Amino acid sequence: MPSRFHTIIEPFRIKTVEPIRHTTRAERETALRAAGYNLFLLKAEDVLIDLLTDSGTGAMSSNQWSGMMQGDESYAGARSFYRFEATAREITGYAQIIPTHQGRAAERILFANTCRKGDVVPNNTHFDTTRANLEALGVTAVDLRCPEGMQPQLVAPFKGNIDLAALEKTLTENRDRVPFAMITVTNNSGGGQPVSLANIRGARNLCHRHGIPLFLDACRFAENAWFIKQRETGCADRTPAAIAREMFGYADGCTMSAKKDGMANIGGFLALNDATLAAKCKNTLVLTEGFPTYGGLAGYDLEAIAVGLREALDEDYLRYRIRSVAYLGDKLTAGGVPIIQPPGGHAIYIDARAMLPHIPPEEFPAWALSLVLYLEGGVRSVEIGSVMFGHQPDGTEKPAAMELVRLAFPRRVYTQSHVDYLAEVILHVHSLRRRIRGLRLVDAPPLLRHFTARLAPVHNALLALQD
Ligand code: F0G
Repeated sequence: MPSRFHTIIEPFRIKTVEPIRHTTRAERETALRAAGYNLFLLKAEDVLIDLLTDSGTGAMSSNQWSGMMQGDESYAGARSFYRFEATAREITGYAQIIPTHQGRAAERILFANTCRKGDVVPNNTHFDTTRANLEALGVTAVDLRCPEGMQPQLVAPFKGNIDLAALEKTLTENRDRVPFAMITVTNNSGGGQPVSLANIRGARNLCHRHGIPLFLDACRFAENAWFIKQRETGCADRTPAAIAREMFGYADGCTMSAKKDGMANIGGFLALNDATLAAKCKNTLVLTEGFPTYGGLAGYDLEAIAVGLREALDEDYLRYRIRSVAYLGDKLTAGGVPIIQPPGGHAIYIDARAMLPHIPPEEFPAWALSLVLYLEGGVRSVEIGSVMFGHQPDGTEKPAAMELVRLAFPRRVYTQSHVDYLAEVILHVHSLRRRIRGLRLVDAPPLLRHFTARLAPVHNALLALQD
């Protein structure tokens, strides 16, 4: 990094391009209606800038593509597996590396071999699939976000932390019913906020005092390590890799979606030290994912992940990545848009409850906002609010803790002009905010309903003609 110049550039040049397509507002209105007012049900080619997720949507590097050409597709004992295993071992320090087709498969396999009906699993904040996989087994998933994490506008360095006092209480009150605790880095559903080394260490000490293991949900471990480098005392001169290794070292294992900080389009793994538990997990793996040296992945996927895991820890890349998100955050903050502060690692989260106080939670303010961002600017985001989390396992409805719209950045895909356009669209929608109206559910499955639910505007239109 040249010290003389301050502009943070994309640390790559573009070798392959994929066109994106402008649509008219009328076309988007028709597309929305056809999709049952659910952005998941749109055709991707009707989206101009797709910030639905940072999962599996990144651009791979020329090194990843050349690694893929060397993929060994042997059913058992493929060279690609050993390359993948060596990298994952080196980065995490865990002895047992079990490949899976994505993160939720690692979760399901771990949970199936550790949890019983009636158990309780604490986490700083469970991601939706993590929660759903636990609830499907009759386990109660409890979110123990630290108090700062509950205040969207508050600027604090580690708002992703788990509440250690609440963790202690949960462990004490549910003796013999907590098979393990988890910490999600960064805390995705909590605003992409980082977790400090001190907090992971504190959780480890509590868990070990209670005789239970701690697992990391490590999807965005590299981004978390970067924030620690920037914000935690004594870490400024350490490499992201060394910090990541310390994070992993406090836990007994991790679940990982390589679609995030693995820089791959598909893949994941479960990693742990306990050989007995690993043997059980591998048996489950064979049933549904595949033989333990490929776990539902092609040899070339394992190669892409082996290269990608290292690239995710590159300092120039992390500096550019975190800065692009903060750049959008700065523009929105300057324009008065309420977002979770400070900006997260992989995404900006608009606080729809603050922006649209006239829409009650039963009419899904964050969902409405995400639809209007698409309608006005062709931008696809995702609601993290009461459509995603409002339906309780006992069949009742309860408003989510926050009503958020997440704009997640695919890795190495969009450039600064895309971000400038995004800021323009969001500020325009912000100027229309009093005209935005809510929605009601028309049809929804009981689990993970946001993926397939169909909705309708409560007042026939998403935007009223006037305030
Ligand atoms: N844990 C976290 C924190 C996640 O963000 C995700 C996925 C998973 C687990 C599951 O991994 O998709 O590979 O099965 N998050 C994506 C997102 C889908 O959009 O945030 P997966």
